[in-house]
Amino acid sequence: MMTGPRLADHAKPGRNCPLRYRYSPNAFDSTPRFEAETLYVVGGLYGNVEALRAVLTMRQAELLRGYPVTLMFNGDFNWFDVDADSFASINQVVLEHAAICGNVEMELSTPSGSAGCGCAYPDDVPDTVVERSNRIMQRLYAQAANFPDILQRLAALPMHATVAVGEHRIGIAHGDAHSLAGWDFAVENLVHRTRQAQAASLLNKLGATFQQARVSAFCSSHTCLPVAFALDVDGHKRLIINNGAAGMPNFRDTTYGLLTRISVRPEVPHDSLYGIELGGLRFDALPIRFDHAAWQRRFLCNWPPGSDAHASYFARIVHGPDYEFAQAIHVGGVEELALSRLPSCD
Ligand SMILES: [Fe+2]
Repeated sequence: MMTGPRLADHAKPGRNCPLRYRYSPNAFDSTPRFEAETLYVVGGLYGNVEALRAVLTMRQAELLRGYPVTLMFNGDFNWFDVDADSFASINQVVLEHAAICGNVEMELSTPSGSAGCGCAYPDDVPDTVVERSNRIMQRLYAQAANFPDILQRLAALPMHATVAVGEHRIGIAHGDAHSLAGWDFAVENLVHRTRQAQAASLLNKLGATFQQARVSAFCSSHTCLPVAFALDVDGHKRLIINNGAAGMPNFRDTTYGLLTRISVRPEVPHDSLYGIELGGLRFDALPIRFDHAAWQRRFLCNWPPGSDAHASYFARIVHGPDYEFAQAIHVGGVEELALSRLPSCD
């Protein structure tokens, strides 16, 4: 019987957050990578080719109105795309646009071995889920190895970016302001703590982060559940907006993904689930209404019943997670802000 040393939970593959994933909020205090009138922040596409197609159609609809739209993919655009066609399609299209890496792209292009899927899963995620994610990563890696050119381009992606939209600097992260796979911008860490005694210390910590980064808002993904959290920092309205997943449903009994749209224009030429005006910018959570039947067929070809991704994700793909709109919208100490569901502008 083996009696070797037992890894502490936080050191196990899938729970480990490698040192190289970390950065300071000061990293966002840099010259903006580019300027945009309207920016779509698309996090967590997870290899969903149909969702990518829908994002391009949404962008095209705005272009036809004369509104330029810049796409920013903020990581984990790969995950379920273990067949060659899907992997090539996703990466060839995404890499034509602005992008940062997620933990999936980081572990694909420069594997650290001990990180597994690189998700840095918190303790409340069961071991079985973490182990399945590590095996999904291994299968994706086997396909990616057939595309050395793509892997080289993925390896060159930055972990974060600062973008200018109008007069505002926007911080684009995959995880949070400190780590590629950080969970500070998860709804459970933003909302649940503010209902308890830690509310003041959380707001102080977030305020310091915004001061260091010198951004008006952070856009993130990674945690797979959307949240919009507005707060006041030194008399200025600030926002953390996490789009959850572009390639998977985000709310109970829904089938669409989500992206974050930021624009200098007050009108929103798509359905907006919820949104906010902040210092002359519009921030909105837009549904990505992809061909759900086609996506299910594609998913099941790669991940039939009994497979790791089917066990972890198929119920969510069909029914959405156990999560409601109201849980995603939160205002932390900024009473005058109206962060709410909006009517369609179409
Ligand atoms: Fe991630």
